[in-house]
Amino acid sequence: MAGVMALAGCGGSASGSDGGKPELSVGSAYMPQPVSDSMAAGFLTITNKGGTQDQLTSVTSDAAGDVTVHQTVGGAMQEVDHLAVPAHGQLVFKSGGNHLMFDKLKRRPKQGQTILVELHFAKSGDLKVEMPVKSATYNPATGH
Ligand code: CU
Repeated sequence: MAGVMALAGCGGSASGSDGGKPELSVGSAYMPQPVSDSMAAGFLTITNKGGTQDQLTSVTSDAAGDVTVHQTVGGAMQEVDHLAVPAHGQLVFKSGGNHLMFDKLKRRPKQGQTILVELHFAKSGDLKVEMPVKSATYNPATGH
């Protein structure tokens, strides 16, 4: 169960309320078929057509006991509480950068299957995403 996280208001300069709402859509989702029985990575792109930024606060999936959001900083990955989806911008998850980590997999995802993922946002609520499982070599190794 995800506890209530202390969301320190990320008071960015772009956080002015211009009356707009975030308008989120998700594309390019995929999971490289994992080599591990217990862990997998996932990638996608979240696009915000609205004039207000949003924040990805957590991720859940039927396929995994635990999903975390990781950032790659200077070649090392670190878990983050949330990531901003900028107004009129994108939040990109890709190999070598931001990625989702699926932990405690209920069963090992295979190429051709689809993983159901739920993205939870501070303002937009929940977004369901179907994440196709691609070949293990679909993308370069993420280093873990
Ligand atoms: Cu990671």
